[in-house]
Order: sequence, then C-alpha cells, then structure tokens
Amino acid sequence: MTLAHEHPSEGTDRTRLAPALAAAANRLSAAGVASARVDAELLAAYVLGIGRGRLLLVDTVRGDELRRFEELVERRAQRVPLQHLLGTAAFRHLELAVGDGVFVPRPETELLAGWGIEHTRPGATVVDLCSGTGALALSIADEAEPGLVVAVERSPEALVYLRRNAAAFPGVRVVQADVTAPDLLGELAGRVDVLLCNPPYVPEGTPVPPEVADHDPAEAVFGGADGLSVIRPVIGRAAALLRPGGVVGIEHDDVHGPAVPDLLRQDGRFTDVVAHRDLAGRPRFATARRA
Ligand SMILES: C[S@@+](CC[C@H](N)C(=O)[O-])C[C@H]1O[C@@H](n2cnc3c(N)ncnc32)[C@H](O)[C@@H]1O
Repeated sequence: MTLAHEHPSEGTDRTRLAPALAAAANRLSAAGVASARVDAELLAAYVLGIGRGRLLLVDTVRGDELRRFEELVERRAQRVPLQHLLGTAAFRHLELAVGDGVFVPRPETELLAGWGIEHTRPGATVVDLCSGTGALALSIADEAEPGLVVAVERSPEALVYLRRNAAAFPGVRVVQADVTAPDLLGELAGRVDVLLCNPPYVPEGTPVPPEVADHDPAEAVFGGADGLSVIRPVIGRAAALLRPGGVVGIEHDDVHGPAVPDLLRQDGRFTDVVAHRDLAGRPRFATARRA
C-alpha cells in the first residue's frame, strides 16, 4: 500500500486504487448487492489493513493486494455475506467473530440492545435467549453494569462463536440449551431483571436474499409456519423467569407488529406492553413488564 502523500515510485506492479474500487462497485451492483460501493470500500480497507476512512489517502496498491481484493469482490458478487469475508460483524461498540454456522447480527437488533442497556441497573441479572454470536448479551456486558449475563444458545456451531466472543467478558455465562424447554434456567425462576430475545422469526417459505438463504443457518432464521414457534414458548418462559417488575424485550418480523404484543397481553402476567418500530418505521420488537 502506498499513501498518496508518500510520492510512490511508478513500479509496473502497482495499480491505482480509485478505478479498481469503481470497477468493484460496478461488479457488486450488477450482482444485486445493495450496498455495492460501501462493500467494495470495506473489502479494500480489509485487504490493506486500514480503516475505511483512510482509503482516501491511498493512491496505489500492490499487485498481490489487488488480486486479493478482486478475489474477495468476486466472492461478494456470489453473495457471500460481507461479514463472512471480513470474519467479523460490527454491532454497537463490538466487533463480533462470525462465519459459517452462526447468524450475522443485524443493525436493527442494535435497537433492542439499546433498550436492554437502558433497563439494566448495576448488578442486574440479564438473560439473552437465542444468543447466536452473543450480540445482545455482550452489548449489555459492554455498555451496562450487570451482575450476571446468561447467554443461551442451542446450536453447537453458533456456540463456537458465542464462546469465542464471550471470552473477553468474564461476567457472561454461556449455556447450551433449547429456549423452548419448559424448565429452562429453572434456578433463575423469579430472579431475572431483564430478558432479551432475538429468536428465529421469519415465517417458513418467506423468500429471503441469497446471503440469508445460503449462509445464515435456517434454524436461526425461520420460526415455523407463522414465524412464532419460538416466540410463543419464550413468552411463557419469560413470565416464569422474570421477577415482579422485571422486563422482557423480543424482536420479531415486520408482519408481527400486532401479533407479539397481543401474545404478551394474552399471557396475562405482563403489563406495560409496548410495540417498537425500527429506524425504517417497520414493527421490530415488543417489550413488557412482569406484573
Ligand atoms: C435470529 S438469530 C439471533 C442471534 C443473536 N441473538 C442476534 O441478535 O444476532 C437466532 C438464534 O437462535 C438460535 N436458536 C434457534 N432456535 C433455538 C432454540 N430452540 N433454542 C436455543 N437457541 C435457538 C439460533 O441458533 C440462532 O443463533
């Protein structure tokens, strides 16, 4: 890599970055990647080992750097998720390890994390059901002062990433379990202050982009015929685990705007049921307080 202000020598193995970036963005756009220019820049920055903001200072790249960049662009054009190519996903202040076998955390889930952080008092007991990479659990550990965070995940492949990401947070306990089990975390019954869950919630048969269909595990995405097959038992378990006054937040599909708040009301053990929208105005998560 040569910085523009360092007066690069004109070696024949060097290529100007700007046209390579433009060509990459065109390739990705033609392949149907929505964020083509941003993805091209992030891949270039990754290959060069710099932050995306520093790309402006780069004039030329070496031949081996260009080849590596073009290989990654081609894989992205095949709709391999950007985060799988980078090996990490940004989530709030965290860089989480991701790859085959684990769900890539989404920006919209940062809203549920923020809600959970706001409701976590110092010393609180927090439970994250369907933890995946640990995005919600680890954001709470990172940005609030919980006493204990329990991250529950069933998939052995996802647990590899969860344990790796959680290693930097000694206050986070990772538990392998099925969140629909009626006796889940029995030792914490009536003692949990905040319970968060981003479950699989897409109704079976809903068309999804290639990045999701081919790379997110199906068990992380689809929640049965109506998308509520995990949410229903989680609501019952939340009522059993939360202390009186404790709070629950559950992410859901756009189509569940009324359904999840209704399920929380119908349970009969919650008050203050609130439906929340994401930054695009779509119904995204529901919250409630244990009566
Ligand atoms: C949509 S992903 C969410 C991951 C993470 N919480 C996030 O927000 O990025 C759902 C996760 O739930 C896990 N999962 C699905 N069904 C489960 C079950 N019955 N018990 C435990 N985990 C489950 C999947 O393996 C996947 O990691």
